[in-house]
Amino acid sequence: MAQLWGGRFTKETDQLVYRFNASISFDQKFYRQDIEGSMAHVRMLAKQGILTEAERDQILEGLEGILADVESGKLPITDQYEDIHSFVEANLIDRIGDAGKKLHTGRSRNDQVALDMRLYTRGEVQEMDGLLKKLLEVLLRIMEENTETIMPGFTHLQKAQPITLAHHMGAYFEMFKRDRSRLHDIYDRMNYCPLGSGALAGTTYPLDREYTAELLGFYGPMLNSMDGVSDRDYLIEFLSAMATVMMHLSRFSEEIIIWNSNEYQFVEIDDAYSTGSSIMPQKKNPDIAELVRGKTGRVYGALTSLLTTMKGIPLAYNKDMQEDKEFVFDAIDTTKGCIALFTGMLDTIGFRKDRMNASAKNGFTNATDAADYLVNRGVPFRDAHGIVGRLVLYCIEKNIALDDMSLEEYKSISPVFEEDIYDAISMETCVNKRLTIGAPGKEAMEKVIAVSREYLASK
Ligand code: ARG
Repeated sequence: MAQLWGGRFTKETDQLVYRFNASISFDQKFYRQDIEGSMAHVRMLAKQGILTEAERDQILEGLEGILADVESGKLPITDQYEDIHSFVEANLIDRIGDAGKKLHTGRSRNDQVALDMRLYTRGEVQEMDGLLKKLLEVLLRIMEENTETIMPGFTHLQKAQPITLAHHMGAYFEMFKRDRSRLHDIYDRMNYCPLGSGALAGTTYPLDREYTAELLGFYGPMLNSMDGVSDRDYLIEFLSAMATVMMHLSRFSEEIIIWNSNEYQFVEIDDAYSTGSSIMPQKKNPDIAELVRGKTGRVYGALTSLLTTMKGIPLAYNKDMQEDKEFVFDAIDTTKGCIALFTGMLDTIGFRKDRMNASAKNGFTNATDAADYLVNRGVPFRDAHGIVGRLVLYCIEKNIALDDMSLEEYKSISPVFEEDIYDAISMETCVNKRLTIGAPGKEAMEKVIAVSREYLASK
C-alpha cells in the first residue's frame, strides 16, 4: 500500500481500515480528469513563478506519459494506491524524480477531488444531453409521420377523446425537452472551478485561480474556498434531473408495455428489442421497457442516498463526501444506458395504426363532440351532457358505437339531431377541430412540429 501522508504516523494502517478508507476501486473512473486538472495546476504554478518552466515541462511530460500508458493499458491502475490522486503522484515521482514531488504545491486532495468530480460530471451532463437530443429526434420523426394516425387518448386509463399518435409523442417530446433544459441549467450553475480552495482555506501561494479556471474551461473560480471543497449541490441537482428523466422514461415504458399487451396491440416491439420465455414458446416480452421502468428505482435511490449523506456534514471537507461517487456513477451509467436503449427501441417499434384507429372508434371517445354538436344548436351544455349520456347508455345496451345509430334513433332521444351529426362525430372531425395551441388537430400539431424542428436545429 502506498500512502501520501505517512510522515506523522508510527504504525502501519490496519489492512481492513486501509480497504475501508480507499477509493481507488471507483475513483479511477476519473483518472483522465485528475491528470488534466494537474496539468492545468502545474501550468498555473509556472506562470506564477512558483515552479520553473523546466520543472513544469518535466511534470507535464511525465503526466502525459502516465495518461498515454493508462489509456493503452500498459500502466494498470491497481489497488495498492489509496486513491487515483496517490496513484498519479506516485507514478509521476517514479518517472521524473524530484520535480514530481512539487506537483502538489498549493493544492489539497480536497480541492483536487472536488475538481475531478466536477470535470467528470460536466462531461457526463453534456453526453446525456446529446443522448436526449437523439431521443427527441426519433420522437420528432414519429410525430411528423403520424399527424393523421388516430388513437384514443386516455384519462384514468379509460378512453377519453381521440388524439393522434403525433400528439401523444409530442407530450414526451416536451418532457425530454425540459429534461435537456434542466441539464443546461445545471451546467451553467456547476461550471465554476474549485481548484485553489486548498484543504479549506485557500493557500499562501500566489495562485492565479482565474487562470486555472480558464485553462479548464470553467466560467471562473468558486468564490469561497470552504464551499469550493464541500459543495456537492451540483451532484444532487444532476441526480434529481436524472431521476426526472428516468420518471419520464418509466412512464413511457409503462405505456409501451400496455400498448404491446395482447389486449391492446397498438405496437409491435422489434425482435431485436424483445425477449422470449424459456417455457412459453408464444411469448415476446417487452423486457427492455420493463427494465427501464425497474431501473428508475436505482436512480431515485442514488438521489436519496446523497441527500442523506450530505445533510449532517459540517463545513468543510469530511470523508463522508467520498460517498458521493459510486451512487452518482451508477446513476449516470444507468440513465445513459436507459436513454440509449429506449431510443433504439422506439426507433424500431412498429405502430399498428389499424388497431389504434379501431380502438378510438369503439370507446365513445367522440361523446364530448356529440354534446358540443347539441350546444352549437342551442342546447345548454348540462342538458347536452345528459342527452349524450343517454345515447351512450343506449349504445352500450345494443353493443354499438355512436356512429352506428340511425338518425331515427338519434331523434328519438333528441329532435335536435340532424344528418350532419355523423360528420360532426367522425374521428377525423373530432381530432381536426381541435386547433388551439397544443391540441391534436393536424394544423395545430404541424405548427408545434415546426417549432420542435427549429428547436432541434438550434440546440
Ligand atoms: N478519496 C477522497 C474523496 O473522494 C479524496 C479526498 C481525500 N481527502 C482527505 N482529506 N482525506 O473524497
